[in-house]
Amino acid sequence: MQPETNGVMVASNIAKDDARPYEPAKGPALRRITAGAIKRRKGTSVVPMVTAYDTPFASFAEEAGIDWILCGDSLGNVVLGYDETTSVTMDQMIHHTAAVSRGTARAHIVADMPFGSYQVSNEDAVCNAIRFVKEAGAQSVKLEGGVHEADRVRAIARTGIPVVGHIGVTPQTAGLGPGYRKRTHRDRLLADALAIEEAGAYAIVLEVVDFDIARELTERLSILTIGIGSGNACDAQVLVLHDLLGMYPHSPPFSKRFAEIGAQSTAALREYATAVRERNFPET
Ligand code: KIV
Repeated sequence: MQPETNGVMVASNIAKDDARPYEPAKGPALRRITAGAIKRRKGTSVVPMVTAYDTPFASFAEEAGIDWILCGDSLGNVVLGYDETTSVTMDQMIHHTAAVSRGTARAHIVADMPFGSYQVSNEDAVCNAIRFVKEAGAQSVKLEGGVHEADRVRAIARTGIPVVGHIGVTPQTAGLGPGYRKRTHRDRLLADALAIEEAGAYAIVLEVVDFDIARELTERLSILTIGIGSGNACDAQVLVLHDLLGMYPHSPPFSKRFAEIGAQSTAALREYATAVRERNFPET
């Protein structure tokens, strides 16, 4: 790491071709990793990705060496208290994606396009993707769907905004019909993945896809596959931050609790409340 610049630590080991072609006039460039640089990681090592929704946790992720961060519309479930993601609005996503951008200097931030922000027309999809770049500092956007959404992916990618696809279990519509069961229809998954690749996406989330099919897709596609509940053969893995940190009593079965932050937070708050009640805090 280089010394602090404007309060932000700047990684010094940025590969030359990851960088932007110019430097800001003052001080070392606060460079973001590009989608192209991430795509070139395919076949090298498995890329870790995590969701984040606010400034502190985005900065913790970057500090931990995770440089591909998704501000997911799981925001609705894990931060805003909804039962589903369909209620999440563009304005909410912009607000939280901007906070994630402010918490990071180098990480590539993917903004999740919420339900209703891309389904109606290519124009809507492009305008909303542009909002994420201009108002929230995102470097790419993600949207759910296969063959039927390939046109949207193409329209956004044509503007120069990198796109991540998302097939398998697609939470925005899962609760409206298809449900959350593991996806095992090989031919449909293959057709969806190839359509999204052909439309210009640089990566694709495979959520709760049969492990063998996820492996086959990873081998066949030139773009990165990002697994969640789809086995360990994918090019990248993503988990929801609150699941992996154990912030709620239950996490999905495919996730792993790397900490118990929820229980630790409750214990710390209980200790604080007791200290106040017993006049042990403040000490004088
Ligand atoms: O919204 C989200 O967090 C996601 C990931 C689970 C991929 O879409």
